[in-house]
Amino acid sequence: MTKVLVATEKPFAAPAVAGIKDIIEKAGFELVLLEKYTEKQQLLSAVADVDAIIIRSDKIDAEVLNAAKNLKIVVRAGAGYDNVDLQAATAHNVVVMNTPGQNANAVAELVLGLLVFTVRNFFNGKAGSELMGKKLGILAFGNVGRNVARIAKGFGMDVYAYDAFCPADVIEAAGVKAVASQEELFKVSDIVSLHIPATPETKQSINKSLVGSMKKGGILINTARKEVINEPELIELLAERTDLKYITDIMPDANDKFAEFEGRYFSTPKKMGAQTAEANTNAGLAAANQIVGFIKDGVTKFQVNK
Ligand code: 3PG
Repeated sequence: MTKVLVATEKPFAAPAVAGIKDIIEKAGFELVLLEKYTEKQQLLSAVADVDAIIIRSDKIDAEVLNAAKNLKIVVRAGAGYDNVDLQAATAHNVVVMNTPGQNANAVAELVLGLLVFTVRNFFNGKAGSELMGKKLGILAFGNVGRNVARIAKGFGMDVYAYDAFCPADVIEAAGVKAVASQEELFKVSDIVSLHIPATPETKQSINKSLVGSMKKGGILINTARKEVINEPELIELLAERTDLKYITDIMPDANDKFAEFEGRYFSTPKKMGAQTAEANTNAGLAAANQIVGFIKDGVTKFQVNK
């Protein structure tokens, strides 16, 4: 029987797991659950005889792929797939997919929630400021960036965006001002929200010169990936520019150093952008359906290792 493993170090909400189970069992497959695992060995053992895997930010590297002798497909229930070794997967004839857009609203809502929390001084009771009328720069206008724009406009923010892969007219059609470069986006914005994936091109690209070009009182908010930040340079900048703030949903490697910037730095303890019942259900069910579609009918929509 076709076996589908859900391997989630950070588990889905219970209704999402129930929905996934339903789809998998209705297809005549068997569901295997590995949640909250703490050792890689647990993952290596669990993958040994499965045909398909659903993951979140769980790492699928060459060692995992070597251990998964029957594996045909891995679906990352979410957007970013930097946690999967695509080359190794292709070499093992394993199809890799993501579920783009399914958790985007959840991440976008967190962005605005964190921004309110930040401009109100982390709810310490002192007079803060409002988001209305502030310039928000969205770096990358994908599913999350578009949702951030939609909600930010509801707050009355003045929204700008830059996306190297999205034409300006698409950005403008969403009622957002398109700027010509990421440099311009940082210069024009009071707040910059990052929505770029972690790729060889973007890793460490958010550096001192970019963030340092922000206006007085600038806020950088990161709900994307920690890898896109040049941490040593950002630490240096925060020490020099005591007006800047860094807010993140992905705890930096150098969290202890950032934590010294009291009142100007905040990190969630564990990435929680996509941690809602709705996002888990949307992404989890999409992943289960994509696995059934691939195994039964060879559907490869959303494959990322073509
Ligand atoms: C994504 O890429 O979909 C988000 O970063 C969510 O990741 P998570 O499933 O690990 O919460």
